[in-house]
Amino acid sequence: MQRFSRITGTGSYLPPARLSNADMVARLAGQGIETSDDWIVERTGIRARHFAAAGVNSSDLAAEACRRALEAARLKPEDIDLIIVATSTPDMVFPSTACILQNKLGANGCPAFDVQAVCSGFVYALSVADAMIQNASASKALVVGAEVFSRILDFKDRTTCVLFGDGAGAVVLEASDRPGILATDLHADGRYVDILCTPGHVAEGGVLGDPLLKMDGQAVFKLAVGVLEESARAVLAKAGRQEAEIDWLIPHQANIRIMQSTAKKLKLPMEKVMVTVDQHGNTSAASIPLALDAGVRAGKIKPGDLLMLEGVGGGFTWGAVLLNF
Ligand code: UT7
Repeated sequence: MQRFSRITGTGSYLPPARLSNADMVARLAGQGIETSDDWIVERTGIRARHFAAAGVNSSDLAAEACRRALEAARLKPEDIDLIIVATSTPDMVFPSTACILQNKLGANGCPAFDVQAVCSGFVYALSVADAMIQNASASKALVVGAEVFSRILDFKDRTTCVLFGDGAGAVVLEASDRPGILATDLHADGRYVDILCTPGHVAEGGVLGDPLLKMDGQAVFKLAVGVLEESARAVLAKAGRQEAEIDWLIPHQANIRIMQSTAKKLKLPMEKVMVTVDQHGNTSAASIPLALDAGVRAGKIKPGDLLMLEGVGGGFTWGAVLLNF
């Protein structure tokens, strides 16, 4: 019998501190930098984001999201036999945030590792977990996206600091004889390393280079709209499905204009697009599982729905996962 992987539980967590655009306007004004609620809403669709308190790390947000996903799947931490965390803001240079999370959950013993694909991290992690479940290396996996991007924002750069937020989302992925994940499609193009990066690194007892996020927003925007359409079509073709069959498109939540463009190209009404960017901002690898969990808990995403998850981000990386929920 063929072995598939299926999502059996979702969970997410946002740190309690919520900053509205008005809060960001006030914070930046204190440094002599001008922005406005109108600009942020019109150009991005973002109205608010959450920032983690000092000392709260990606593994802490991940642990909360995982506890909720485990509860939804009716599993205990010790049932888990694989942990993959997608993050670009790990707790430490090493060991992995996945190992730190594993210990916080009390799920020690199983393989645990991080995936680094920036905002595409969750679709990368989900694809790896799917492959490991299909080949029987694992049966019950936790796949997590967790970020504290507030730590790497340059609050003197209004073109980036208003865009990002912190949070975590998780799914439990279990082996099943019924297909959940139908097809995956992953890509990267390292020629574009410089258009979205945090170039600093640890060396000689300190940080060498700039440890704050840099982005050429327009270059990222242009690439994103093209590759998201390509990847959506590729994953549909692999699964032999049509765009009109999609119940929910759950794209990376970076900019509402990118989501509208993808939806238009796929001839999907915006009612079929899960949107949380307005309340969460761009939470990088956490954005897709946060949006998925929001949709599930709101009763919008139902068992059996055909979901298209799509990520795009630094690297340049992109990809899609098509699944029956
Ligand atoms: O997560 C990974 C994927 N990331 C993304 O997908 C991000 C992709 N890029 C974007 O979403 C958009 O390019 C941005 C939201 C980053 C920028 O939007 P844009 O429409 O491309 O704006 P722009 O960079 O062309 O800037 C337009 C104007 C500029 O002023 P001038 O030169 O026309 O006078 C900027 O200085 O908007 C100005 N501006 C701002 N004004 C007020 C830039 N940031 C701000 C701001 N407040 N925060």
